[in-house]
Amino acid sequence: MTLKKSPRSGVSHVKVLLRMTRPGSRYAHDLFDEEGNLILKAHTPLSQALINHLLSGNTEVLYYDPKSHMDLPEAGLNNATQAVSSGTVDSTMNTARTLFDDIRDQLNYSPEATISKAHINETRGVISTMLKEISDNDDGLFSVITQLKNLDDFYYLHSTNVSILCALMGSRLDFNEDIRTALGTGGLFHDIGLTSVSSDILMKIDKSDEDFDRISMHTHVGYKIVEKNPLLHELEKRILLLHHEKADGNGYPFGFDYLHYSDQVPREVRIVAIINDYVNMVLRLPGETPAGSRQALRALLNRVYAPYKKTYSYLPADFRDFIRALGFIVNGGDFFMQRGDLVRLETGEVAIIEEMNRLYPLNPRIRILKNSRLENLKRPVQVDMLKNYKSYIAHVFERSPKKDTQASVKD
Ligand SMILES: [Fe+2]
Repeated sequence: MTLKKSPRSGVSHVKVLLRMTRPGSRYAHDLFDEEGNLILKAHTPLSQALINHLLSGNTEVLYYDPKSHMDLPEAGLNNATQAVSSGTVDSTMNTARTLFDDIRDQLNYSPEATISKAHINETRGVISTMLKEISDNDDGLFSVITQLKNLDDFYYLHSTNVSILCALMGSRLDFNEDIRTALGTGGLFHDIGLTSVSSDILMKIDKSDEDFDRISMHTHVGYKIVEKNPLLHELEKRILLLHHEKADGNGYPFGFDYLHYSDQVPREVRIVAIINDYVNMVLRLPGETPAGSRQALRALLNRVYAPYKKTYSYLPADFRDFIRALGFIVNGGDFFMQRGDLVRLETGEVAIIEEMNRLYPLNPRIRILKNSRLENLKRPVQVDMLKNYKSYIAHVFERSPKKDTQASVKD
């Protein structure tokens, strides 16, 4: 069996680097070599013997077509291959629901509330199943679940999505088992402080400043609920407290500025903050306009720190990690930027993307068109941004809807 086109010629093919795979990994797609020969059927474990055999024959890379699964009717999760099964998504959502309801009940009777041992054990069980599925589906994609059955489900669904993306990120960035579990659990618990806010305020489309002040208390309220609980990991507590801090000091509850942000907010929590913003963009209340995943990733990139920006939310290294872990997964196996996009580098120079790099999407091959003062260069300069890894794209301009191949500065 062969592909009609050589994988080399198809931009949509995704590479699997054999040196980076683990024996036992299963892929949801058929894997092919460079000539288009079928090497491994979907869902078959990749054995160490096959990896050794391929490497000894100088085959270092296999390919799959991320679109090939899209016709499967049972694929679910908006037709993406499932990094996490729908059963696990449901049990995560149910866990969030019973936990939030319990905390809300406790707060009705007293200002003190705590997460019970039973809830913590139940959550750990769900996260452990989730992590197992993630490791069994190495190329699994994930579409944020946006189908609300009823309005009250909004925050459970938000927390479920954040939890799954946190677990995925923990696995893709090779954090250890404890941290992966803490990321999934902290992701599910991160907004429990919102149980102290009435649903009238939470569900309002036009929130007043007063409403936002009330809502912004949720990080402190949530932290108070978990602060003294010896069964919870320190990282889980930090996620509750710090997931709304921003690199420019405009976050809360502390508002750490650029100089203190990276010291005071752990790296894992900084990436959770990006995940939280991502989910907030693509899962909106009814009546609000949600962003598509590609649009959301581009909007997030535009919040990365660069010396010429006055406001920004994320450090470049954290955003790089976020994209490396989740960019392909949440964008259906595609880049969120592409050839022809007009971008601004951290230096302030403006360039056009000539070729994307799968492993380092923020360091593509580019042609610089304008200097940092936005003056046109007499001779555009071609640069492979991988050769200077400190350099990165800090802004992508919106494409003009009419001209798809020629980007224009419009943002
Ligand atoms: Fe929050």
